[in-house]
Amino acid sequence: MSGKRRFGILTAGGDCPGLNAVLRATGKTLLAHGHELIGFEDGFLGILERRWRDLTTCNLSGILTVGGTILGSSNRDNPFLWSPTMHRGDGTAPSDHSDRVVALLKELGIEGLIVIGGDGSMIMANRLIQEKGVNCIGVPKTIDNDLGATDVTFGFDTAVQIATECIDRLHSTAMSHHRAMVVEIMGRYAGWLTLYSGVASGADVILLPEIPYDMEKVCQAIRERSTVGKRFSIIAVAEGAKPIGGKMTVSKVIASSPDPLRLGGIASRIADEIEATTGVEARATVLGHIQRGGTPSAQDRLLATGFGHTAAELALAGKWGHMASYRCGEFVSVPLKDSVKKLRLVPVDHPLIAAAQAIGTSFGVDAEATAQLSPA
Ligand code: F6P
Repeated sequence: MSGKRRFGILTAGGDCPGLNAVLRATGKTLLAHGHELIGFEDGFLGILERRWRDLTTCNLSGILTVGGTILGSSNRDNPFLWSPTMHRGDGTAPSDHSDRVVALLKELGIEGLIVIGGDGSMIMANRLIQEKGVNCIGVPKTIDNDLGATDVTFGFDTAVQIATECIDRLHSTAMSHHRAMVVEIMGRYAGWLTLYSGVASGADVILLPEIPYDMEKVCQAIRERSTVGKRFSIIAVAEGAKPIGGKMTVSKVIASSPDPLRLGGIASRIADEIEATTGVEARATVLGHIQRGGTPSAQDRLLATGFGHTAAELALAGKWGHMASYRCGEFVSVPLKDSVKKLRLVPVDHPLIAAAQAIGTSFGVDAEATAQLSPA
């Protein structure tokens, strides 16, 4: 294809460190080929509300190290189920507005849309392709690192570093006050962030969604530490962790969202149970969105640059319906339809779990019980 071509891009879903690095790499690659890139503001909401801006070499400069997304994001606005006032208490009932996406892209002469988002956004992109014939390319992003179609997502490494540093800081106050500190870490239904930051910070107990815990074993680990004179404990708990036979702790249900369950509250529940059962004073800390903020790590800048460049190459080649992916050390593409909703959970036979158990870290169950759980 010759002549100037025009593409669109948006960032949707929860933000994560590295989004701007993707925008920069995609934009600069397309601009270097003499093409144009339009950035829609606040995810799909920018298309529905007709808000966009040209991305230029000027506004794509100086953003590599900046956290968040210069375009803004939204994880509540789904073109297939939307109304302009749906987030207000008195809002009108949502309905299908996806034709507005088709119409605006046509009006602006946009050949294809690059969607940077998590699994919810990839599902929307896939529906736009399948049901509306929109040319889309996906770029996966999430600090949770739980997307099946790529070995790793950018944002994860930064979040691990932040969580690790926070747990390091909890160590010193835990030691001073002889407390059990329970720290709640993001990750939704996957325990990657908790496993990596928990092992990196030497947490004494690590609780993952993939290994339902026995509260008695958690308390036993804390008592055993007390018995040998260790008067503090660090418990790293994934927000999606659950007791054996129990459920995840849900803080809110948002029916209109593509991801309706907001997890949260497990840390204070566990802290209360530890205090009641062991008599050890316990405190809960929720790291929350601290894990998603701030400048991306060097590794995430590299990954995001590779993902962004790959997306631009896919757009240039007209390889619509594909998602940029990182497999076995290489940037590749995978069909978007195969990539949606395949969550990548921590396998219970992950070598880091075995290594941590070997040095005395408890996962809230006997080590033999972990081995009996079937690998994810
Ligand atoms: O998927 C990324 C993530 O940060 C999860 O780890 C967390 O459960 C969720 O998003 C929080 O979403 P929100 O920003 O809507 O509170």
